[in-house]
Amino acid sequence: MFPNTRMRRNRLTEGRRRLARQVAVTADNLILPIFLVEGAGRREPIESMPGVYRISVDLLDKEIEDLKIPAVLLFAVPETHKKNENAQAAFEPDGIIPSAVRRLKKIDPELVVITDVCLCAYTTDGHCGIINQKGQIDNDASIELLAEMAKIHAQAGADIVAPSAMMDGQVAAIRSLLDKNGLCDTAIMSYAAKFASSFYGPFRDAAKSSPAFGDRQSYQLSFANPTEAFRDALQDEAEGADWLMVKPGLPYIDILYQLRQKTLLPIAAYQVSGEYAMIKCAAKAGVINEKNAAIESVTAMKRAGADAIITYYTKELSEWLAR
Ligand code: PBG
Repeated sequence: MFPNTRMRRNRLTEGRRRLARQVAVTADNLILPIFLVEGAGRREPIESMPGVYRISVDLLDKEIEDLKIPAVLLFAVPETHKKNENAQAAFEPDGIIPSAVRRLKKIDPELVVITDVCLCAYTTDGHCGIINQKGQIDNDASIELLAEMAKIHAQAGADIVAPSAMMDGQVAAIRSLLDKNGLCDTAIMSYAAKFASSFYGPFRDAAKSSPAFGDRQSYQLSFANPTEAFRDALQDEAEGADWLMVKPGLPYIDILYQLRQKTLLPIAAYQVSGEYAMIKCAAKAGVINEKNAAIESVTAMKRAGADAIITYYTKELSEWLAR
């Protein structure tokens, strides 16, 4: 046998494995999603996502206490009676998200606050854009509303706005309105490659945002069309996106890897609710080691090219990965 055919670097000791390790996720790479409800003192478990809660804004202090990660991503879950056809509650300067942003910035000015910009939680029909008289998504009217929503988040102090509605031209519309209002420092993280996916199931339970009719295939990407994902992502880059995102994570790891070769922007990967729930359920059933599976999943995303990872495992991971 030739001397160099032995993989000596990995053998024998943990120290030698550490020295040769190429990819490691750290707490710095993680983004914690937070679901926010109105009112005070509310902390409601989400059935389909064990360990994840919907909380009211006043409980944010406790939520981010001892947080070892640099960023959070905020989702609003407005009450049903606050939803309407025009998604009006999305534009209240004192709504759930602007209030939460101001509170977080007060508690910890260094925390990077990212806000989800989408209409689905605010519309009665649960679609990501608004519906015209023909019963179709009105793309151009929707992007104006998304820009307005992003502006309100940015004025409240959001560092990054993250449009997830998958409307054409949403990044350009947001960038232009932000700049017009002197909000040049607010960055845009575009959910550029967001696929129409079954893995969002538990999120829709968490955010109470299932579409009342139809589905999201007319605006989210088809998992059968990778080229379209790259075209969309590069279009978002041209429109002024500062970050791109691939979502879901693990089922689209090939998209992530290829996108990494096509852009120089930072990329976030989103380990979505269904991916989280699958690990949780399998662990509960005793057929998988939860900690190892979670670490392996996010490491795969980083290996494929993700700079940051949005995951419901953020809190656990920041403990597990600390050494
Ligand atoms: C809003 C939005 C969704 C997710 C993030 N933003 C749901 C959807 O598009 O149906 C899903 C996140 C998850 O599943 O964890 N448009």
